[in-house]
Amino acid sequence: MNPSVLVTGVTGNVGGEIAKLLNEKRIPFKSAVRSTGGGPELEYAQRTEFDLLRPATFAPALAGVERLFLIRPPAIADPKYFEPLLEEARRQGVKHIVFLSLLGAQTLFFVPHRKIEKRILKSALPYTFLRPSFFTQNLNTTHLEEIREDRRIYVPAGKGRTSFIDVRDIAEVAVRALTENGFENRAYDLTGSEALTYEEVAARMTEEWGIPISYANPSMGEFKAYWHSRGLPADQINVMAGIYLTAKIGFAKKVTPDLERLLGRKPLSVSQYVRDYRAEFFPEPL
Ligand SMILES: NC(=O)c1ccc[n+]([C@@H]2O[C@H](COP(=O)([O-])OP(=O)(O)OC[C@H]3O[C@@H](n4cnc5c(N)ncnc54)[C@H](OP(=O)(O)O)[C@@H]3O)[C@@H](O)[C@H]2O)c1
Repeated sequence: MNPSVLVTGVTGNVGGEIAKLLNEKRIPFKSAVRSTGGGPELEYAQRTEFDLLRPATFAPALAGVERLFLIRPPAIADPKYFEPLLEEARRQGVKHIVFLSLLGAQTLFFVPHRKIEKRILKSALPYTFLRPSFFTQNLNTTHLEEIREDRRIYVPAGKGRTSFIDVRDIAEVAVRALTENGFENRAYDLTGSEALTYEEVAARMTEEWGIPISYANPSMGEFKAYWHSRGLPADQINVMAGIYLTAKIGFAKKVTPDLERLLGRKPLSVSQYVRDYRAEFFPEPL
C-alpha cells in the first residue's frame, strides 16, 4: 500500500466521512491523526502523525503525498500555522490541495478560512476550495444533548432560514476532487437544496421520530447563559452566537446549485438526515 492521499481531520465530521468513503472505494490513504491510535480503524487507512501546531510532523506526513484534504480545526484561528505546512507541501511536490473552507469565505474578511485560502493561492499549489453552508450534523454533535434530554432545539435563530448541508455530501465531493481530474483551481459554494427554519427542522424530527421536538428560540442572553452553564468557554459561545445571529438576520439561507451539479443528484435533505441519524438521538426505542 502506497497512499498518495493525505486526509486531515479524520476524527471530525467531514474528514471522518471522507475516510469512510475512500475505504469503501478501496483507495489507500494516509489518515492524519494527532495521537497514535487516533482516527478510525479502516483497512485502507495508514495512520500518520500530524499536528498543525507541530511543524516537525509535516514532512513525514506529506511523504509520498500528491493530494491533500485540509481542514482548519475550529480551535485554530491564526492562519500563520498553515504557512510551514504549505511550504512543506510545495517542497514535497504535492499536486493538489482540497481545502474545507466556508460559504461566503471570499467576502468575509474576518473569517480564518479567507486568510487560509489567500495563503493557498499565494503558494501557487493547485487547489479546490469547498465552501459549505451550515452542517446538518451540528444537530447531532453540538445540539445532541438538548435534543435528546430536553426534546428541544435551543438556538437563537428566530425565523431565519438555513440551507443545511449534510457532511456526507461534502465528503462525496471531496473524494471526487481528491481522486479525479478537473477540480483544480476551482471553488464551489456548497449548500443543501432547501433552506429551513429551526421550527421546520423540529417539525421534521417530530414527524419522522414520532417524538415531539420543539424549537425554543431563546434570546441571545438566554442562549449564552445556557452554554455558560454547560461550561463552554466564552469565546466559543460568542462564535456560536454570531453564527445563529447570522442565520436570524437571513444570511444563512442562500441555496446554490453547485452541490447538485457535482453530485448529479439532489443533495441529502434534512428529512433524510433525520431518518438516518435517529439512533444518534434516541438509541433505545421509546
Ligand atoms: N460546522 C459547520 O456548520 C461548518 C460549516 C462550514 C465550514 N465549517 C468548517 O469546517 C471545519 C471543521 O470541520 P469538521 O467539522 O469536519 O471538523 P471537526 O469535527 O470540528 O473536527 C476537527 C478536527 O480537527 C482535528 N484537529 C484539531 N486540532 C488539530 C491540530 N492541532 N492539528 C491537526 N488536526 C487537528 C481534530 O482532531 P482531534 O481528534 O485530534 O482533536 C478533528 O479531527 C472548520 O474550519 C469549520 O469552520 C464548519
